[in-house]
Amino acid sequence: MTPAEPEKNKSPYATMIVLAVVLLVVLLTCVPYLVTIASAEGPAARDTADASPIFGVTIPPGYKQWELIAPAEEAAPLDEFRAVVGNRTAIDAYQAGKLPFPDGTILVKRAWKRKQSPEFASATIPGAATTVQVMVKDSKKYASTGGWGFGRFIGGKPVDEAQHRTCWGCHEARASSRDYVFTRLAP
Ligand code: HEC
Repeated sequence: MTPAEPEKNKSPYATMIVLAVVLLVVLLTCVPYLVTIASAEGPAARDTADASPIFGVTIPPGYKQWELIAPAEEAAPLDEFRAVVGNRTAIDAYQAGKLPFPDGTILVKRAWKRKQSPEFASATIPGAATTVQVMVKDSKKYASTGGWGFGRFIGGKPVDEAQHRTCWGCHEARASSRDYVFTRLAP
């Protein structure tokens, strides 16, 4: 009977220690989940910051793996190499000669400064990347701009609203017969 006495006195402390340990384990288990939730919300918040003004267009993931529609060159002062690439919907529409482009079409114009090849003097190769320009077809969302949403990005960040006001005007004035798209599929 006597050994039960100290046992009984110790038990509140033992219970507290057990509770503290349980609490610690629960906390340690929860922290990684909380961090995951927080970081999952991160990219969503970043997306809004990385979206173009007026149109809310973002750089589409994986565009560097997209198929080439055509290269282009831009004379001075910009003096650049360009390559227009498209997602599957764009490429399919181009190959079928389909106009207007269906909703879901995305066209990306990549651009680089020119650089002399370090191995071969007469060869010119892409230097630093300059702009990434995007056109997204959504006939409902962008009804007032021919169904196209525009985005121009430098270093992954959208340029200002004033620049985005120029996109539609030029594409509308000069490429209206081709659904406001200049680039033709390279032969
Ligand atoms: C002054 C005329 C002009 C303005 C303004 C303009 N573009 Fe273009 N855009 C062109 C031309 C010309 C091409 C054809 C490719 C080339 O020569 O570089 C083109 C091509 C494109 C393409 C490839 C698809 C296509 O139509 O050939 C995208 C994407 C694009 N522009 C996005 C934009 C965005 C975004 C803006 C506004 C920030 C913009 N453009 C403003 C003239 C213009």
